[in-house]
Amino acid sequence: MKGKIIVALDFSRRKDALKIVEELKGLVEIFKVGIQLFTSCGPKIIQEIKERKANIFLDLKFLDIPNTVEKASEAATALDVEFFDLHLTGGGEMIKAAITGSERRAMLLGKNRPKILGVTVLTSQSSSISEVVDLSAMAKANGLDGVIASGLEVGEIRKRVGKDFLILCPGICPPWAKKPQDQKRVIGPKEAIENGASYIIVGRAITSAKNPREATKRILEEITPPPHSSPLPPRLRRTGEGEDEGEGETKK
Ligand code: C5P
Repeated sequence: MKGKIIVALDFSRRKDALKIVEELKGLVEIFKVGIQLFTSCGPKIIQEIKERKANIFLDLKFLDIPNTVEKASEAATALDVEFFDLHLTGGGEMIKAAITGSERRAMLLGKNRPKILGVTVLTSQSSSISEVVDLSAMAKANGLDGVIASGLEVGEIRKRVGKDFLILCPGICPPWAKKPQDQKRVIGPKEAIENGASYIIVGRAITSAKNPREATKRILEEITPPPHSSPLPPRLRRTGEGEDEGEGETKK
């Protein structure tokens, strides 16, 4: 379950962001660089995080006319990030322009383009499930690799877009963490993963914790399925395997 957590580096100071990257070494593989860190520190911060053997989700949420988004997507691709995103409300032409720009630059660099994600509705806003599901279907139809949506909607989105489409879920609050005042569509990490999230995006529950490493470990434990959820039916397991509490059909 290690690769399932993306940590949002919502900091203004380079040293605070890099401290978290160092602290979570071995537990977290992808860090999210959003508008706060990017506009405070510039693109150099991407390189500095990558030097620490981590991957980047560049969360700048592009929303502009197609030509501008196409050029911005070229630039994001040149930064060698794993993911970047745009607002789906920009429409089909804008989405296609982003893909064109990214593919053009990737081809020049001789590599694959980053995965491009669409923001459905911010988790800080109220929304209907059908609105988010329709936007996700539109994202897929226009060639995007995935969407960002709340874990509350992820089950319905999955039914519409299938299992290979990426769904990243922010608005994550573990039961023991303080609920963020600005987030409206909030869900626990375990529930988001069980509903079908490809990744959960966690910011303050980790970065504001007294001990961010312990908080991350705790979330990892919560989202890791218990050993008794083995896909093998009990009769095919070796004797003694999975005989712990609550095991399969054999115990009531
Ligand atoms: O601190 P918290 O876990 O609420 O942070 C959530 C992160 O996910 C923030 O960096 C925010 O910008 C981002 N995000 C979001 N809702 C979206 C897309 C991104 O909260 N729809």
